[in-house]
Amino acid sequence: MNPVAGADFERWSAQQLDRVEQALSQWVLADAPAGLGNAMRYAVLDGGKRLRPLLVLAASKAVGGQPQAALRAACAVELIHAYSLVHDDMPCMDNDVLRRGKPTVHVAFGEAQALLAGDALQALAFELLTPDADEVAPAVQARLCALLARAAGYAGMAGGQAIDLASVGRPLDEAQLRTMHLAKTGALLKASVVMGAACGAPDAKAQATLAQYGDAIGLAFQVVDDILDVTADSATLGKTAGKDASHDKPTYVSLLGLEASRAQARALLAQAHAALDASGLADTAALHALADRVIHRSC
Ligand code: IPE
Ligand code: IPE
Ligand code: MG
Ligand code: MG
Ligand code: MG
Repeated sequence: MNPVAGADFERWSAQQLDRVEQALSQWVLADAPAGLGNAMRYAVLDGGKRLRPLLVLAASKAVGGQPQAALRAACAVELIHAYSLVHDDMPCMDNDVLRRGKPTVHVAFGEAQALLAGDALQALAFELLTPDADEVAPAVQARLCALLARAAGYAGMAGGQAIDLASVGRPLDEAQLRTMHLAKTGALLKASVVMGAACGAPDAKAQATLAQYGDAIGLAFQVVDDILDVTADSATLGKTAGKDASHDKPTYVSLLGLEASRAQARALLAQAHAALDASGLADTAALHALADRVIHRSC
């Protein structure tokens, strides 16, 4: 990418991140009863790279999508992601004490409140997607809800997390590992792209190639997460490094080693870029740069 396109992307990204932070802060109110709102805000605000919201907004931009639908979809995906992190960190799952540079929600608020904060964030995501009909067309609302429900549920994130927990201490082959990663992490990242596209009316070819792009970066994202767990430190990550090996989790690094895992990530980045090139869409610079960010990130 040339430097001008790079600077344009950074400017666009900073603007969108501001919009997303403001919208999340406005929509995740502290006034849920008995301190639940505080736990919800703690889980969502002040941290996180917001890659999923940026993917929604970049995909919507690429297809000329409706801005208010895209902002709601961006925040809804982030709420599902935040809820998945709260539950992922709980003692019954990965038992982590550090997330986004802060004590995890169950450490700060207790396990029951963490469970409920996750539940409430999941419900709130769907509330965001269903405003009055004059704000987002009912057919778009229904499509966004269906895409997010599918990606978050048994066939996506929750199903992938079940495979993850059932795989502790078991060597998986590459196909099994790919299936697990595509579900637990890839589904929500792909949904971000497809939901952004659903805010407009792309043709069939653009839809199919954007879905391919989503699959490639979705898998790459978790391959890089596996790599960073081994190569980065906890202060940089904002979460405890080295947990996968200490919990005996099958990962790309444990299966293939570091160098082959890095090569996988690079190959997936090339696939993602190729899908954009084949999309026939004019304005894919932000999606292109976000794929780079997914693969070349340091945290
Ligand atoms: C971490 O996701 C969990 C995985 C799906 C691997 P992110 O790395 O996007 O976490 P935040 O949102 O930036 O904290
Ligand atoms: C989590 O994967 C994926 C989710 C659905 C939350 P990890 O367990 O590897 O995520 P981190 O490393 O704790 O962020
Ligand atoms: Mg986990
Ligand atoms: Mg974890
Ligand atoms: Mg991880």
